[in-house]
Amino acid sequence: MPWQSGAKPDNAAVGTPASGAEEAASKSSICNRQAMVEQLQTALGGNLGLALGYTLLAVLSSQLVLMACSAAARMVHERRQQQLDRERLETLVLAAKYRYKEAQEVIQGWNGYRKFTVSQKSGECEDVFSFYLMPHDRKALPPFKPGQYLTFSLEIPGRDKPVVRCYSLSDSPTRPDCYRVTIKREKAPPDKPDVPNGVASGFFSDHVKEGDLLNVKAPTGHFYLDMTKNTPICLLGGGVGLTPMLSMAKAVAESGSKREVWLFFGCRSQGEHMLREDLNKLRRFENIRVVVCYSRPAKSDVKGEDYDREGRVTIDLLKEMLPSSNYEFFMCGNGAFMKALNDGLEAWGVPEKDIHYEAFGPATVKKKAAPATTTAAAGPACKIVFAKSGKELAWSPAHANLLDFALEQGLRIESGCRAGSCGVCSVAIKSGSVDYIKPPDAPPEGGSCLTCICRPKGDLVLDA
Ligand SMILES: Cc1cc2nc3c(=O)[nH]c(=O)nc-3n(C[C@H](O)[C@H](O)[C@H](O)COP(=O)(O)OP(=O)(O)OC[C@H]3O[C@@H](n4cnc5c(N)ncnc54)[C@H](O)[C@@H]3O)c2cc1C
Ligand code: FES
Repeated sequence: MPWQSGAKPDNAAVGTPASGAEEAASKSSICNRQAMVEQLQTALGGNLGLALGYTLLAVLSSQLVLMACSAAARMVHERRQQQLDRERLETLVLAAKYRYKEAQEVIQGWNGYRKFTVSQKSGECEDVFSFYLMPHDRKALPPFKPGQYLTFSLEIPGRDKPVVRCYSLSDSPTRPDCYRVTIKREKAPPDKPDVPNGVASGFFSDHVKEGDLLNVKAPTGHFYLDMTKNTPICLLGGGVGLTPMLSMAKAVAESGSKREVWLFFGCRSQGEHMLREDLNKLRRFENIRVVVCYSRPAKSDVKGEDYDREGRVTIDLLKEMLPSSNYEFFMCGNGAFMKALNDGLEAWGVPEKDIHYEAFGPATVKKKAAPATTTAAAGPACKIVFAKSGKELAWSPAHANLLDFALEQGLRIESGCRAGSCGVCSVAIKSGSVDYIKPPDAPPEGGSCLTCICRPKGDLVLDA
């Protein structure tokens, strides 16, 4: 009989809620059935009519129970749905928060050291290698400003503590996947052949290989090209001092800017001509002029092919080639290179604010007046005692900082960034006190000073 079919309510109990139309149809069919029971009782009368009536009532009751079950299942389903929606929303909010945090980390860099894998090591020229570094955690890299450097903490066998050194980023900042540094092996100075060769540069040259992991701090440094400006620039790189200059020139080229750029690079001969392919590619940009100078070209070196000019990068060359002195100058190279150019530029009338330099070693560029800021006066003429070395030396305000002063006097103090960030040049003060030229990024232990960014306030005894 058609009214005995219970397929729909059964399904609903399993979990599929009935639709509104199905519910209405079911209600009207129950009303119809009640009318039929009354008609049966009237028509049949007696026990047969009663039995049939009860049977029909039982069927109707089971229909009502099934409907109640269906409604309850529907409510449970709806609640579950709401719960799931809430959970889904919470998950989305959490994911958005995580992505925001990641983006912030990418923009701001990272704290402390992060592991990088050497993905490629390539020989550039005699004693110079480029190292391509990819983050071991494979997360995105923060952009850097062209001219900035990385700080490495190297575990070198035989050393009781990590050796910290800084290396400029030599590629453009537009490579999102890896950083590049270019490192020259430092040999013992010609006048001191008995002293050991450079520790870190030797380690990089001889031992660091593809696949190795290195501890690296985020890019930093105040010597960089402001990419928001459009002033013409002249970049002067001597030897491995080319690295930050190349990064700046490549940044301009790859940004599509039409900013006028002159890049002068000086080395002895083809044997020292590093990053040659990059330099040649820059020649294709009409707003960028590259001038390679060999001071001692080999017989096999071809002018016009290997190099542009014979001789050093000098102020006379700049005067000859540049249309005017109206440029912002950036320079990096050895002490003699920077001193000669800085003096020449000042004499040419270039304002001090337009001459920027990075010193990889002791800074031999002395500004006309020793820079004294509100945080540090140039300091008085006084006496500095280096207790461990047993030396007593006269300090004059013309010295840039205690580190350079010590190095100029032939004393050895370890250094890394030379900018108050890495803490390597920290020396304990036995008596006296110092003034800081700028606040240290990494404050030294109590009772010590960062010699690269401080000067004595008066007589001083250092534990060095
Ligand atoms: C901001 C910044 C960026 C830099 N970027 C680059 C870059 O891009 N590429 C690059 O190649 N370098 C760069 N440098 C230089 C680099 O950080 C190291 O200073 C350089 O590699 C030498 O380190 P080292 O450990 O090999 O030499 P060290 O061991 O520090 O020795 C330095 C010199 O001292 C000599 N020496 C050793 N012992 C004595 C002693 N007892 N007496 C006298 N002399 C001694 C060594 O023979 C060597 O010539 C940068 C430096 C700074 C501060
Ligand atoms: S050399 Fe890095 S803090 Fe002085």
